Amino acid sequence: MATKLLLDCDPGLDDALALLLAHGDPDLELVAVTTVGGNVALANTTRNALQLREYLGFFEVPVAAGAADPLVKLPETAEHVHGAEGLGNVLLPAPTLPLSELHAVDLIISTLAAAPGTVHLVATGPLTNIALALQKEPRIVEWAASFIIMGGSYTRGNVTPAAEFNIYVDPDAAAIVFAAGWEVVMVGLDLTLQAVVNNEIEKRMRALGTLGVDLVAPLATFWTNPHDNEWDGQALHDVCAVAYLARPDLFTSQSARVEIETKGEFTSGMTVVDFHDEMPNALVPRKVDVDGFWDYVLGAWANVASRYPHA
Ligand code: BDR
Ligand code: CA
Repeated sequence: MATKLLLDCDPGLDDALALLLAHGDPDLELVAVTTVGGNVALANTTRNALQLREYLGFFEVPVAAGAADPLVKLPETAEHVHGAEGLGNVLLPAPTLPLSELHAVDLIISTLAAAPGTVHLVATGPLTNIALALQKEPRIVEWAASFIIMGGSYTRGNVTPAAEFNIYVDPDAAAIVFAAGWEVVMVGLDLTLQAVVNNEIEKRMRALGTLGVDLVAPLATFWTNPHDNEWDGQALHDVCAVAYLARPDLFTSQSARVEIETKGEFTSGMTVVDFHDEMPNALVPRKVDVDGFWDYVLGAWANVASRYPHA
């Protein structure tokens, strides 16, 4: 039986490719998508999710919109990374299927409540929706089959020296989520930066045909880091979180206690990771088998690509 997941996301270049992975791997079953303001404003992340549902073909999967703004902080977006609309320079047809009438928080709660212990929760944006869901229904901690995020790091940030984007945008939500009493699988920057889209991977993406040329490669190569002289390609952070759910065997992980800095003048949004604490609240994937990762991800994307005419 396929592994069921609900993906809470802010598409977003790499969120879009994470959706493609969740849809393309026959061993995964995407049961719901919820959106949050993050990389771009909520209206854009939601429209992008709706467009991707129809372009990629997961028509039956509900898409619900969630929180536009972080719990306490003012919103900060990343158009300089993801483009003005959130999908780089990819333009998709306008959606025709409706948005769910439920708020994302209620879709998260009702999806997990309907089948306790069977749906995995994966969050690849700021953790606002998850924190609100926990406040409204703390039993989701028991109902989620597992909880995986893309966020944080144990060495460095990408928005500030200390903080990774998803945690930086809503540290108050992250603090609630990490204190909730479940194990947070924290797929952070130290892990995601191991698998970058170099020229060889881009070639393999384009070889997928129309889907690869029109969607995958443009999303995966849109951003280049002007501050990194040794730039070897974009990391597909959020894809790693979905890959972890499907193929934890590709990762080497370690338990840790993770606390969220919410107040620091220079460190707000930092994930303070202690691999030696005796009261762990997180599992931190630290190494990925990079070749195995790409073989798995490109193979799953190929399942969707084969339904498109070759470029
Ligand atoms: C994370 O922030 C966003 O820009 C990406 O979509 C990813 O979720 C990486 O720091
Ligand atoms: Ca994201």
